[in-house]
Formats: sequence, C-alpha cells, structure tokens
Amino acid sequence: MIDLFPLYGPLLRCLDPELAHTVTVRMLATGLAPPLGGKDDPVLRQRLWGLDFPNPVGMAAGFDKNAEVIDPLLSLGFGAVEIGTVTPKPQPGNPKPRCFRLPDQQAMINRFGFNGQGHDAVARRLAARRQRRNRRPGVVGANIGRNKDSGDAINDYVAGVYQFAPIADYLVINVSSPNTPGLRALQDREPLTELLTRVLEARADLCEKRTPPLLLKIAPDLTDDDLAAVAEVSLDLGIDGLIVSNTTVSRPDVDHLPVAAEAGGLSGPPLFELSTRVLRDIRRLTGGRLPLIGVGGIASPEDAYAKIRAGASLVQLYTALVYQGPRLVLDIKRRLPEFLKRDGFATLAEAVGADVR
Ligand SMILES: Cc1cc2nc3c(=O)[nH]c(=O)nc-3n(C[C@H](O)[C@H](O)[C@H](O)COP(=O)(O)O)c2cc1C
Repeated sequence: MIDLFPLYGPLLRCLDPELAHTVTVRMLATGLAPPLGGKDDPVLRQRLWGLDFPNPVGMAAGFDKNAEVIDPLLSLGFGAVEIGTVTPKPQPGNPKPRCFRLPDQQAMINRFGFNGQGHDAVARRLAARRQRRNRRPGVVGANIGRNKDSGDAINDYVAGVYQFAPIADYLVINVSSPNTPGLRALQDREPLTELLTRVLEARADLCEKRTPPLLLKIAPDLTDDDLAAVAEVSLDLGIDGLIVSNTTVSRPDVDHLPVAAEAGGLSGPPLFELSTRVLRDIRRLTGGRLPLIGVGGIASPEDAYAKIRAGASLVQLYTALVYQGPRLVLDIKRRLPEFLKRDGFATLAEAVGADVR
C-alpha cells in the first residue's frame, strides 16, 4: 500500500513523455509498481449492462493500447480498464515526437495516431488473460479503431467487433481521436448511422456466442447540431452507451503557450469544462436512457463527482495519472462516498445526472 510515485514520478517526468510512458508500462508489467488496490466501499458498486463494476473509476483508452498491463492497472484500484485503441493491422503511428507535456496546466497534447500491435496480437493477449485463474476482478473494455491506410473504415470496425466481442466485457467504437485523418467525420449523421448499423449487425451475428455492450466514444468538439444527431442516432439504433469525451483539438486556457501550436488532442484539466459541458448536453439529449462514461480532465475527487452529477455512471482518467500518480484513484474512491452521503444520495446511481434534472 506504499505509494512510491512521489519518488519515481519526478524522475519519469524528466524523460521524454513517450519514453516515460513506455517505462511506466514496463514497470507495471514486471510488477515493480506495488498494488495500491484496497477494498472498495460497497456504495461505489454498480451493475451496468449486466457487468459488475466494483467502483466507477476506469483507466481511459490509450494507456494500455496493447493489453499488456490490465491486471497491474486493476491492482492500482481501477474498477475497469479500457484497452486500445486497437486497429486491424499493426501500425507505427505518427512520427516522433508526438506527445507533449504542459506541466503548469498538468495537461498533455498527443498525436500518436493509433500506434499499436494490431488485432491479432492484442486479441491473443486478451484471450490468454481470460483463461488465467489469478486475474484481478474488474471490467475490461476493448476500444477499436481503423487503420490510417484503410480503404474501408467501416470494415475495420466490423473486424474489431468480430475479434473482440468474444473476449472483451464491452466494446468501444472510437470515432473521436483527432489524429487519424477523416476519423471524426464518422460522427456525422449519415456515416454514423451506417457505421453503427454495420457494427450492431456484426454483434448480432455473433449473438449465440456473446453480445457485449457497444459504446460510442465522441469528441468534445462537436457542435450542438452534431450532438443532437449523435444522441438521436444512438437512441434510434440502440447502442448501449456513450463515452464523453476524447481529447480536444481546441486549446482552452493554453492558447498562449508555444506548445499549444503542436497538432494533436489536448487532455487534462483544460479539457474538463468543455468535456463536462458536452456530457451534460448528451445526458439531457438522451434523457438518462443511455449510461454514459465521463472522461476528460478529471484531476481530483471533486472533478470525478462533478462528472457523475453531470450524467456519468462511470468515469475514466488518464492525464492526471502522469502528474499525480495512482494515488488519485484511491483518493477518488475514498472521497466519493463522503460526497454522496453529504448530498443525501443512498447510492451512486442516485447522484448520476443530479445536476441535469
Ligand atoms: C497519450 C494519450 C493517448 C491516448 N490514446 C487514446 C486512444 O488510443 N484511444 C482513445 O479512445 N483515447 C485515447 N486518449 C484519450 C483518453 O482516453 C481520454 O479520452 C482523454 O485523454 C481525456 O481524459 P484525461 O483528461 O483524463 O486524459 C489518449 C489520451 C492520451 C493523453
């Protein structure tokens, strides 16, 4: 239960951000980072889509792109880990450098561009884990995307559903990363309708095996009209939930910094207000009929609770871990029950969307 991040965090931050990430994943994979887990307060438990979440705090996509450290991440206290984004074929991503820290804002800009080992390698690892007796309890989602040079983007997502539906607890259709040309256009009404129709058909085709919930992850940069279309199509076609949001191509509060001119998606506290506003809008537009995962700029227990009150049944984080380490996960889990009690909620579910009613 000892948190060594105060010792190794500053050392990691002396390294280039991508190298620091690689070292961190290696440390986790070799068990060098001690488990911080601890017992979760029962008030934090939820059953969503038939899945048991021991707590609402998840590791956001992009940290464990290749499903290498699921159990070490669950050991840190996460209730869920979302692996990926995984593309059908392995691909190198964009040229380096492609990840930048904004230390004063505790933020990041990245343009990785879906670097990763591809479906086969990742699916093999995930399937092997499912056979292991000593795996940690917790939910594992697979976030799927398309290759940069794909001739048929929708086919890439359909292939992802066939690969990962049998071995993941939930699936995420990621159409919101800013670093693959043309990807975000899949959020427009017609392409989105076609994409979701096709992936839902693929899932139905697997029906006899397994039908994990299918979620859509959206960008925070959508207009009001885009958001209305996303909500309508999602409800009409019957997808199971939305993840709000990915990184932003806008530069709120950081425009004055030279690093803000780097292309890519901004994450961390400068994203919080924008992504929480979009979360609230989506909650309103879907009338609470779809469970939502709130992600974007969470850097404190108060931030996590604000996402829940804005409509999130679950939350995820990434960038704050770079600056604060895994202790934040425990802090969120320790404080949430206090906030719920203070505001008179008997369960976490009661607080979901409290600011939107
Ligand atoms: C370095 C980095 C890589 C990311 N890679 C992915 C990815 O592959 N797929 C994805 O859906 N989101 C990816 N994200 C976005 C995160 O999952 C999350 O939506 C976003 O960073 C906002 O949360 P945060 O402010 O807590 O970091 C990435 C974020 C970062 C910082």
